[in-house]
Amino acid sequence: MGADRDNKTPIQHSRPFLGEKEAEAVARVIRSGHIAQGKEVNRFEGRFAEYLGVSHAVGASSGTAALHLTLLAMDIGPGDEVIIPTYVCTALLNAVLYVRAEPVLADVCRETGNIDPEDVKKRITERTKAVVVPHMFGLPVKMAPFLDLGLPIIEDCAQSIGSTDEGRLTGTFGIASIFSFYATKVITTGEGGMVVTGSRKIAAAVRELREYDKQKDYKVCHNYKMTDMQAAMGMVQLDRLPALIRKRRAIASEFFRRFKGLSVKLPPKNPGHIYYRFVVDISGVKRKAFSEEMRARGVLCERPVSRPIHRYLNIDGYPHAESAWKRLVSVPLYPALSEEEIGKIVHAVQTASFFKETAS
Ligand SMILES: Cc1ncc(COP(=O)(O)O)c(C=O)c1O
Repeated sequence: MGADRDNKTPIQHSRPFLGEKEAEAVARVIRSGHIAQGKEVNRFEGRFAEYLGVSHAVGASSGTAALHLTLLAMDIGPGDEVIIPTYVCTALLNAVLYVRAEPVLADVCRETGNIDPEDVKKRITERTKAVVVPHMFGLPVKMAPFLDLGLPIIEDCAQSIGSTDEGRLTGTFGIASIFSFYATKVITTGEGGMVVTGSRKIAAAVRELREYDKQKDYKVCHNYKMTDMQAAMGMVQLDRLPALIRKRRAIASEFFRRFKGLSVKLPPKNPGHIYYRFVVDISGVKRKAFSEEMRARGVLCERPVSRPIHRYLNIDGYPHAESAWKRLVSVPLYPALSEEEIGKIVHAVQTASFFKETAS
């Protein structure tokens, strides 16, 4: 299901995978007359917790809201520091600023683009209250060095649902984890998010803070609820998740096979990777010129992170994030791609004027 495509429309950088089942699920909720947060949200939360094997899952209106609620539930506020990577979208910065804590930016690993535990170590102070660890592009972070820091770790699984580190699902390592179900995420509810935690206290606080009605005593709360329409759609998407991940991995294998021998560096191979993004390193090639040539061939490629946070804040000292921002490009990879589109992407990359055939 989706927009009709013709040969002239370029292949989008990303599109959701939606079918009749999602449409039916949303229609069923609409017909029921109960469309706001209710039974469907409860059921989705239960199914989500079961999928991850964790005790608590609490729905929210977005990944940003989920992170904001998590920080509040952990009593993080003014005077506290929260470490986040710089090579990530500004949603993380926003959530830290919403609670008036101080964001401390960390650099990323050159090879993966994921937050670097060694750089994090250097930035820890007595005011550090949490480290947010996003698994970028669906590539799982090696969690052991983060767990060894002895600080509360919040995993950001906005791009990584279903990926594993050492065989264990991302989202099950931290004191709490957040997910996003934005339209182009691995599974979607249009907008939406989830907080997952083994802590009854954090889960209860998140539940209390996500809505303002029926509070015993007044305190500042939010309207960060998920609707039953979103939850019904989310359950269909969760059922599809294994197939969606299989498809992502199959397209990635095809890309690895067909791009082998080109002078472009392919993503790190990791059995736990779900390829939310297929991020290639085009060192030595001007990114803009590459993207323009690909666009002319009908394929829209994007920076996987539009701008690192240190650039917005004008701070120096992030050499790997700076270089990742210049070198890395995301080539379309998502389950809604047709075979014909996959062929077109492969051909466009293989014949890009920038890449030479190498001996490998
Ligand atoms: C790594 C990461 N964290 C958090 C978010 C925020 O999620 P949302 O857009 O649902 O607020 C995103 C969304 O793009 C993301 O990629």
